[in-house]
Amino acid sequence: MARILDGKAVNQAILEELKPRIQRLSQERRRPGLAVILVGNNPASEIYVGSKVRTCSELGMLSEELRLPDTITTAELLAHLDTLNRRDDIDGILVQMPLPRQVDSRAVLLAIRPDKDVDGFHPFNVGQLVANAPAPRACTPAGVMELLRRSGIDPAGQEAVIVGRSDIVGKPMALLLLHAHATVTICHSKTKDLPAVCRRADILVAAIGRTAMLTADYIKPGAVVIDVGMNRITGRAEAERISRGAPAKLAAFEKHGSVLVGDVHPGDMAELASAYTPVPGGVGPLTIAMLMANTVQSAELRLA
Ligand code: GUN
Repeated sequence: MARILDGKAVNQAILEELKPRIQRLSQERRRPGLAVILVGNNPASEIYVGSKVRTCSELGMLSEELRLPDTITTAELLAHLDTLNRRDDIDGILVQMPLPRQVDSRAVLLAIRPDKDVDGFHPFNVGQLVANAPAPRACTPAGVMELLRRSGIDPAGQEAVIVGRSDIVGKPMALLLLHAHATVTICHSKTKDLPAVCRRADILVAAIGRTAMLTADYIKPGAVVIDVGMNRITGRAEAERISRGAPAKLAAFEKHGSVLVGDVHPGDMAELASAYTPVPGGVGPLTIAMLMANTVQSAELRLA
């Protein structure tokens, strides 16, 4: 039986550890503050931002949500960032991605003060990551590392294969695993014989945004599989395909008319992996926990 790597439990453990630190800051200085900017009304982004802001309030941190119209210009967004950069009560600034096309995302990331960049996306912080020097780390890959650590899975000497080369997940994930002494391969849409490369993996990380694309022939028996994908299925044929060996998925589809699935086929993953992250309830909750951890750390550094 494969072991399920429970992201919700690890999320709870991380948040519990943050509580005394937040309490101490609140009593001795002030509570940590996070500003979240949401541009437009992408439904997925609204859900992510909602849970980030909610978690902040549950922890007794200050959270401020700025909702801006999707017609915003780069200059207008930069003006908001300038204000937040200067505010003493704000320790972390997060601009939810993706941004509308007319906005220059790179200019936006560059405009966030690196010490308030709790997403770890600023080029300075990316450089620190490359150098294995201290700085806020991108939350999803940092959450995966925390999950591995707390589950007793040591990447040292293991073959790690990452499918996906995004700036948000694939690239930082590769660097973190490399720093943890894994032998790392990054795959992408041009990779030749992707199943064969994936079958080399002791630790397989899927971050491509393609519904249950990695099936049995991509998974080495006994591998640890980390599924970063989050895809919503609304069609019956697709729901039936992904439910092979995972009947709970079809039951969820019948009940709600849609079902969430990752980038790895859930039935194949449960059958072949030694340990895996479920979707939902795997990697998702860790991203939020690490965002909170980055914000608390930023406040501690600022108020020290
Ligand atoms: N969009 C998808 N994931 C993320 C994330 O971790 N941070 C931000 N800012 N946007 C995202």
